[in-house]
Amino acid sequence: MINISQGQWQQVNNTLNAKIFSELHYEELLIIEKLKINHCKNEQKRHLSIENTETTQGVELAVNAKNAHVCQWISGDNVWQFNAVECIWGNLVVDEKSLTRNGQVNIVSAELLADIAHVIKLDDIILGNLIEEIQQTLFADLIATEKLAQYDTDTLSKLSGVALQALLKGHPKVLANKDRLGWGTDELNRYSPEAANPFQLHFIAVHKKIATTGIEKLDTENHQQTVKRMLAEMMSEAQMITLFEVFSTQQKDLNDYWIIPTHPWQFQHFIVPQFTAQFADDSLIDLGVTGDNYQAQQSIRTLSNISRPKNNDVKLPITILNTSCYRGIPGKYITSGAALSEFIQHLCGEDDFLQHANFKVLKEWAGIHVSNPNQANIAQTPYRYNEMLGVILRQSPEAVLQGQQQDKLAAALMQTDAQGQSLIKQYITASGLTVESWLTQLFDTTVIPLYHLMCKYGLALVAHGQNLTLLMEDNVPKGLAIKDFHGDLRIVDQAFPEHQGLPGAIAAQLTKLPAQYLLHDLYTGHFVTVLRFVSPYLADEMTYSEEDFYQLLAQRILHYQSQYPELQERFQQFDLLAETMEKVCINRVRFNVGYQDTSERLLPVLATPLNNPLYPIAGYQ
Ligand SMILES: Nc1ncnc2c1ncn2[C@@H]1O[C@H](COP(=O)(O)OP(=O)(O)OP(=O)(O)O)[C@@H](O)[C@H]1O
Ligand SMILES: [Mg+2]
Repeated sequence: MINISQGQWQQVNNTLNAKIFSELHYEELLIIEKLKINHCKNEQKRHLSIENTETTQGVELAVNAKNAHVCQWISGDNVWQFNAVECIWGNLVVDEKSLTRNGQVNIVSAELLADIAHVIKLDDIILGNLIEEIQQTLFADLIATEKLAQYDTDTLSKLSGVALQALLKGHPKVLANKDRLGWGTDELNRYSPEAANPFQLHFIAVHKKIATTGIEKLDTENHQQTVKRMLAEMMSEAQMITLFEVFSTQQKDLNDYWIIPTHPWQFQHFIVPQFTAQFADDSLIDLGVTGDNYQAQQSIRTLSNISRPKNNDVKLPITILNTSCYRGIPGKYITSGAALSEFIQHLCGEDDFLQHANFKVLKEWAGIHVSNPNQANIAQTPYRYNEMLGVILRQSPEAVLQGQQQDKLAAALMQTDAQGQSLIKQYITASGLTVESWLTQLFDTTVIPLYHLMCKYGLALVAHGQNLTLLMEDNVPKGLAIKDFHGDLRIVDQAFPEHQGLPGAIAAQLTKLPAQYLLHDLYTGHFVTVLRFVSPYLADEMTYSEEDFYQLLAQRILHYQSQYPELQERFQQFDLLAETMEKVCINRVRFNVGYQDTSERLLPVLATPLNNPLYPIAGYQ
């Protein structure tokens, strides 16, 4: 029985509406007016009233919000008003409780989107699709909100990495961040991160002739040993024996086949109907559902082994639209993925600076991809059709933890409990450190090693909150684990002498970017997409200003740079401290392009350059 509470429904819509105003204002799609404010003398609260509007009576804003505004945005005859705090990046943190439309509260997001469509002249086809994505997101948000209500920041902070992932908010910038088009209540309940339900995988045998592989140590063992090594990560000895018995009923030679897992939903919806010919000629053989239990991580397609948490994470294609693209696995990075992660792990292990920072690489040691013969030769076919079947095995964060360490996605830093209290405040308070010491430790274990990787080796990883795993000890970040090498790791388009050890085959597969683009893997990926959402909590809850936050970060970068005078030229190429930086927008892309299929993933668009809050301010220590 579906039983939706009106109060929760209103809450998730209000939360999303606040995000819609905030991000679309940041992306310069909505021009929001800041109304004139009269301050009264009360020292405890700043009572504000607005001149020149008839609809608003006067409102209260938080005492410690020095950049608080009453804002207004008009669409035709409809007047939206809300309180917001303007942050250092120029973005607004909107108070969801204050949102009104023509004086009415609790307006659904679909209505806000219709108002926005009117102003930006959005095509109705795009609006209709956008509303579908938003409704999907809101429904998933209901489940997530209900779960989160059971925790406060103390209990949240003590959860394991996997358990915490089920409660995280999701992508902070993308408006429809739980869209998963094609999934209904049943799928969400079984397979979504917020449902946190364990499930088993559906195994198939894949004939070698249709598989593309990238697997480490193939030269040191025979084929069957490799198959067993992979399977041992995903099932018990007894389950493996039974699986081989099922395989043997087909009278095929195991030396000709790989055995891989598929996501049960993908198996049913795409693999069987799109690869029927391969099942008919035994290039694919169904071996059934077996093995360990898995739970979806935030990315949905990467799964944690719940039965044996130190065993590999499994990344599987799922052909659903989820935050801006279909979540398949492309074949183009498969052959080099394992060698690349081996190379990076070796490189980081040899680098004293990275070792000292406890910088870890979650090795993606095995990858298999099967292309669809019906689609493979259609040059401009939608990319999703060639990304339906494959697997990547990756070391789990649990496997690299030492002592009492816990793994937490960097996205945890922007998480709150149901009352809106931040998890980062909880970590800092529980650590016993000052805000400044704690942040210094955070920057020195995250930004600085990633910056070192960029400047010394010309390598960068899209450093958003889902790709970085903090290794926390006694509530303090003591290390970092990186992952996602099949496409999200890129290299500078210049020949650095440090690239000499990089095998040509790997270099050929890596995406090469000019330094000023590569920089954004850290700048936009991390500063704008993680830290922008973290610093306001410290300003609000711990009176640690955003100026102090970013100037401290700038100081840590300068401190790092002072240790490597020989990299001076690189620091100029990869200049994180420039006065202005490009502003990269992702929501506007969908508004521009719409929902039709494309042969490549969509690219972001640029808005007015940002005033860089890291630009060193004279006089800051
Ligand atoms: N805070 C966050 N920042 C970025 N992405 C997030 C965040 N929370 C959830 N996500 C989701 O995680 C995914 C990030 O995409 P990305 O391509 O980095 O990962 P992936 O390749 O799907 O998985 P993995 O990182 O496990 O290899 C998207 O599906 C996105 O919606
Ligand atoms: Mg990722």
